[in-house]
Amino acid sequence: MEGLGYPTDWQWAWENYKPAVVAIAREYGLAEHLEIGGGRDPLFAQGELDALGVRVTLNDISARELALAPAGLRTVAHDICAPDAPDALGRGAYDFAYSRMLMEHVRDVPAMWRNMHALLRPGGVALAFFPTLYAPVFALNRVIPERLACAALETVFPDRKPDGDNPKFPAFYDHCFSAESRMLPMLRHAGFAGFADVTILPFYGYSYFWKFPVLKQLDAVFTALAQRRDWRLVSSFAYVIARA
Ligand SMILES: C[S@@+](CC[C@H](N)C(=O)[O-])C[C@H]1O[C@@H](n2cnc3c(N)ncnc32)[C@H](O)[C@@H]1O
Repeated sequence: MEGLGYPTDWQWAWENYKPAVVAIAREYGLAEHLEIGGGRDPLFAQGELDALGVRVTLNDISARELALAPAGLRTVAHDICAPDAPDALGRGAYDFAYSRMLMEHVRDVPAMWRNMHALLRPGGVALAFFPTLYAPVFALNRVIPERLACAALETVFPDRKPDGDNPKFPAFYDHCFSAESRMLPMLRHAGFAGFADVTILPFYGYSYFWKFPVLKQLDAVFTALAQRRDWRLVSSFAYVIARA
C-alpha cells in the first residue's frame, strides 16, 4: 500500500482497489483468486487475467447477477455466509479472496470471514473493501427503512434503480468498522486459527452530498477534521487485509 502511495482519502481507495489487488497478487505470487460478491461487475476481464497469469472464480449469492457478468469466467452462485460455502466453492482452493462493496450486504460477517479462512490455503490472503459506520450517510442508510433509502438514492442517482446499471442491495453493516478494537477480535477468531497479519486501512469522505450545496460544504469540513484526527468512528470506507 505504501508503494501505491496510500493516503486516507476515499477517492484513492476506489481508484487503487484494483491496483492494490494486482500489487498484492504479484508481491506474494497469488495465482488462484476468488472474487466474492463480484456480481455483474467483476474486477478483471479475461484478457487481464491472462496477462496477469491468474485464474479467478467469481462468486455471488445471486445467479441473476452472475448471468449479467461477462462470459468466460468460472462462476459459483452461493451465499458466502452459508455453512456449506467452503465445500461449494472449494475448501483451501484459493491463494487470494477479495471483495468490494460486499461486506455491508452480508448479514453475518463473522461467518463470511470464517468461510474465507476455510477457502484460503494456509498463508493465503483476504482483502475486503467496504463502507464503514458511522459515516453519516451510511449510518442513515442503516437506520432508515430500506424503501425510503432506495427512494432517496434513486432520486439523486438514477442508475441506482433496480433495473439500472448499479442497483442498490439491502445493507446491514454488520462489523463494518475501521477501528481495530472492533475488528481484530472477530478476525482473529474467524476460522480455527484465525487470521494473522491483519492490516486495516481507513478512508474518509464520499460524494453522496455533492449535489446539495450547503450539506456538501458542512460535510467537507467535518470530513477534513475527521481525516486529520483519524476519527475511526466516522471513517467512510476501509480495506481489511489479512493472512490465513
Ligand atoms: C453492491 S454489489 C457489489 C458488486 C461488485 N463487487 C462491485 O463492486 O461492483 C454487492 C454484491 O454482493 C452480492 N451479495 C450480497 N450478499 C451476498 C452473499 N451473502 N454472498 C455472496 N454475494 C452476496 C450481491 O448479490 C451483489 O452482487
